[in-house]
Amino acid sequence: MSKRLTVLLLGSGGREHALAWKMAQSPLVEKVHVLPGNPGMATQDGRIVCVSGDIGKIAQELKPDLIVIGPEKPMADGVVDRLEAARFTVLGASRAAAQLESSKIFSKEFMQAEDIPTARAVTCNGYAAARAALKTWDVENKGVVIKADGLAAGKGVVVTKDRAEAEQTLHDFMVDAGHPVKAERVLLEETLHGREVSAFALCDGMRFLPFGYICDHKRVFDGNRGPNTGGMGAFSSQDWPSPAARAFISENIFAATLRGMNKRGTPFKGVLFAGLMVDGDDVNVIEFNVRLGDPETQALLPLIESDLVPLFLAAAKGDLSNCSAPHIADETTVHVVMTSAGYPSQNMKLGETIILNPITNDNTQVFFAGIAAKDGSFVNSGGRVLGVTARGATLETARKQAYARIDNISFKGAHWRRDIGGQ
Ligand code: AMP
Ligand code: GLY
Repeated sequence: MSKRLTVLLLGSGGREHALAWKMAQSPLVEKVHVLPGNPGMATQDGRIVCVSGDIGKIAQELKPDLIVIGPEKPMADGVVDRLEAARFTVLGASRAAAQLESSKIFSKEFMQAEDIPTARAVTCNGYAAARAALKTWDVENKGVVIKADGLAAGKGVVVTKDRAEAEQTLHDFMVDAGHPVKAERVLLEETLHGREVSAFALCDGMRFLPFGYICDHKRVFDGNRGPNTGGMGAFSSQDWPSPAARAFISENIFAATLRGMNKRGTPFKGVLFAGLMVDGDDVNVIEFNVRLGDPETQALLPLIESDLVPLFLAAAKGDLSNCSAPHIADETTVHVVMTSAGYPSQNMKLGETIILNPITNDNTQVFFAGIAAKDGSFVNSGGRVLGVTARGATLETARKQAYARIDNISFKGAHWRRDIGGQ
């Protein structure tokens, strides 16, 4: 047998745990090194190893056969460009291609130019221009969503309820020095209505393979109440959108994006994530991301039965022409996230010991995120602490199992939604 592969994965959250878990199952793989990873990942599988340090140096030491980039920030900072210049094989978007996520304005102008369906919007340079545009905006009939340009860790978008909130948001983003979001440029956008879904495609620069559909729950409390979060849970969506809608999405969103990025001389390689609003047959792109979703990945990968490593390698090398889309089981997954008390505010209660009661004969998988090791146990060290994925024949069976597993995990102040997968 030829030498088995060394994989290096960048990131530390639940998405990266799921990626490491899945890639470590590949018979082609010797080890998955995760930089920096989290201490929970390595406890479950000896083939997963956490490493620390500078990615350039670590790559030179390990000489990985494949590097996979989890989060968007390093891609927007050019990590893929640097690693490819050093001749590594990398799955991820170049700095130029990452603008699809890192600049809402680039992304909107790109969609407009390529005729990719999206909400109508105007770009405003500076506070005076934004206020003037809002004055003439038909807020009552079209609604208004305000989007700060640039990466804002999910805080740069406000779907406003009225003109007063829109005015306040412009002031927050563009004037208030103490506000966490700062923007020179904003988009004003019409409010879309319908049901949201996250669609994924694995791309090699020219071609893509559809990678599945997942719904996530963004609000912190049951019934979609409270502030937006990174995601409180997710479930697989097997029978929706319809086959016709999926064909439309493939041609008019994924293929159109790849064509448009090629035309600009900045081909898109990696995972393209289209956040979609679907209303009957009407599909619009809310936003593009240049990576897998978190927590969508934790609901997606446990359903994929194919080995992903050959697909990731082929995409990273720029040639998916001999590959077919991964086989997705005809079952359902539900993923429930446990968070620290206070999340998503900055005022969280951290450092609590996490108790994981062992259970047997179980169809679930725990993916760790914001945890640290302390005195031989784990403590919570971030907002999203861990999540449980259950797989079942139906949404209901998967939900039951996920919540049964959650009942066996505890830490002081733990919060989770009780209605994940309930739609
Ligand atoms: P984003 O940071 O772009 O993912 O936006 C966060 C959330 O805001 C999305 O998941 C949607 O729920 C919502 N959103 C963004 N743009 C729109 C829009 N034009 N209409 C309705 N909801 C939107
Ligand atoms: N769950 C949404 C995201 O990963 O951006």
